Amino acid sequence: MTGHDPVLLEAVVDGLAPLPGEHLLDLTIGRGGHALRILEATAPGGRLIGVDRDPAAHAMCRTSLPADRTELVHGNFGDLPTLRQSIGSGTWDLVLADLGVSSPQLDDGERGFSFRFDGPLDMRMDPTRGETAAQLIAMITEESLVTLIKELGEDRHARKIAAAIIRARAEEPIETTGRLAAVIRNAVPVTGSSKLDAATRTFQALRIAVNRELEALQHLLDRIGSLLSPGGRLAIISFHSLEDRKVKECFRTLSSEGDHLLLTTRPIRATDSEVRHNPRSRSARLRIIRRLEEPA
Ligand SMILES: C[S@@+](CC[C@H](N)C(=O)[O-])C[C@H]1O[C@@H](n2cnc3c(N)ncnc32)[C@H](O)[C@@H]1O
Repeated sequence: MTGHDPVLLEAVVDGLAPLPGEHLLDLTIGRGGHALRILEATAPGGRLIGVDRDPAAHAMCRTSLPADRTELVHGNFGDLPTLRQSIGSGTWDLVLADLGVSSPQLDDGERGFSFRFDGPLDMRMDPTRGETAAQLIAMITEESLVTLIKELGEDRHARKIAAAIIRARAEEPIETTGRLAAVIRNAVPVTGSSKLDAATRTFQALRIAVNRELEALQHLLDRIGSLLSPGGRLAIISFHSLEDRKVKECFRTLSSEGDHLLLTTRPIRATDSEVRHNPRSRSARLRIIRRLEEPA
């Protein structure tokens, strides 16, 4: 299995400024890279609850994170009332959400996230529930598909791509990443100037839709104040302008209400050297907020 380089790791640790004994709720534990560094700083007493909707994420965390200070939970931060049944009703000193998919998810062809491998067109972060990308494509109307590719993929060829997908599915159901990528590449004119594969934006849009990523984030943001202890810090890393806009608005509202302080007036971005080392960090934006001990 391949690894996952935690993005903006130093900025997350500097910004959250974890102290010995503080407790961390990592809502997207992934391979536990951020959590491990934070646990080092909160030793010996600081505990971690590591949530992920992908059960595969927990297997590696079980070997890499200190078992006596860690509890791993299968759950979705987009359904906090259900998640609370596992994580309890408490508050945390440190809360982290590093959104989107992990490199191990992208690099496993059987998960269907990437057009770099031919595999089943699945794309569910939680393979135990919900509709796959193949099922979504089989049922969606052409107009809804245009909107999905335009809004979640920001692809100016949305209309052409949607029409080609609808034509192709009439011939035969689209059930693999390879076939979907080929349909998209055939539909989009090759300009030579773009470095992006023609399928990139549509794959991103489908992944966001299949996992209801924006709905999950909004649900979390609407309830985020209830997770932080007085003095607690919350960091969110987003990878899409639609996500970042939601985080920015939520943090602005919380700070204008007087009981939270914005620690990042502008989002923190990866340095050129991090982007060269880890291209996934190119679109990452980190925002951090602190709950005040005493409301202003
Ligand atoms: C970018 S990775 C996190 C990487 C992690 N910070 C690390 O250092 O390894 C995002 C993870 O969040 C999980 N995830 C995404 N949306 C989620 C949600 N709504 N609820 C729970 N987990 C989610 C994904 O399954 C994935 O494992």
